[in-house]
Amino acid sequence: MVVRFFCFFVQISIKMIAAPGVHITRVERSKLTDINLENLPFGKFFTDHMLEVDYEDGKWGIPEIKPYQPLLMEPSLAALHYGQAIFEGIKAYRNEEGEAFIFRPRDNFKRFNISAERMQMPAVPEEIFMEGMRELVNLDRNWIPAKEDHSLYIRPFMFSTDEVIGVKPSERYKFMIILSPTGPYYVAPMRIYVEEHYVRACPGGVGYAKAAGNYAAAMYATAQARKKGYDQVLWTDAFEHKYVQEIGTMNVFFIIGDKACTPDLGQGTILAGVTRDSAITILKEMGLMVEERMISIDEIMEAYKAGQLKEVFGTGTAATISSIKELRYKDFVMEFQVDTWKTAPELKKRLNGIREGKRADSYGWMYRV
Ligand code: COI
Repeated sequence: MVVRFFCFFVQISIKMIAAPGVHITRVERSKLTDINLENLPFGKFFTDHMLEVDYEDGKWGIPEIKPYQPLLMEPSLAALHYGQAIFEGIKAYRNEEGEAFIFRPRDNFKRFNISAERMQMPAVPEEIFMEGMRELVNLDRNWIPAKEDHSLYIRPFMFSTDEVIGVKPSERYKFMIILSPTGPYYVAPMRIYVEEHYVRACPGGVGYAKAAGNYAAAMYATAQARKKGYDQVLWTDAFEHKYVQEIGTMNVFFIIGDKACTPDLGQGTILAGVTRDSAITILKEMGLMVEERMISIDEIMEAYKAGQLKEVFGTGTAATISSIKELRYKDFVMEFQVDTWKTAPELKKRLNGIREGKRADSYGWMYRV
């Protein structure tokens, strides 16, 4: 009888530990008093807490929210050698009533697991990703800057944690979320170099995944463009260097005549941006015809020569809507008077209006914390 009672008790406690939920350990003293939440650089400061959960023996553990702190790792950690590492970028905002909202986090959650599948990593369950993020943002909600163009940048990421240097998918992984109160990523209109030698992505590759290696692979070409005085490169297709793909950390839009054109996602070479998707919706709401299709650099030059290329801008979570003031292809330079533009500023105003709670959230994009 006593034994039976004991077994029942053990079963109950195991179930309680295995149930979804988040363990929270709070900081003793917040660092928030040491920081001014205005005029912040992008991604340099981190909030008081972070979320951490490990995958092992084919299952995820209990997520833990704890004080932001360094990680202890073995030099043989698989992610450091073979790059099984993916991430997301999401933003949280505070409206005028002080309520906290996250912009379209479910879309990032879905994309995260698409990246995970491509990199042969386990899917993160929705309750860990969404509920963990909600709890973490809620705990550090006072870190959400109130200033225009500022937000709390949410960085979920996952990496392999096997300690072995044989090349194979890891059996263990760590999923984490950190938060960074942040200002704009690009502060001024950009000069862009059209890349026709180096390649970011090709069909069958990993261009559509938010894999850490995609960003590492872009750095050399970007550094070459910087030496020539450009901020970023506009990637072109791997076979002919004829069709445009994306710019640095952003998707790209061209206003040609009364249409908005952006490269389509069909080839799997372009990141399916959440801001890209939001921009398409808002541009349609603004009455523009939006075309998602292959766009050649020749078409862009012809439109420019004919006075039809009105605006060029990038979209991204970090970048929001970023104007391009110069586009250079070989020796041909396309320059734009960004202060005369109508479309990109209106798009940014409407998008930020929804995110900052100043416009109606007609598309159900804001997730209440
Ligand atoms: C984002 O827009 O969130 C990104 O992931 C870009 C980042 C590499 C700064």
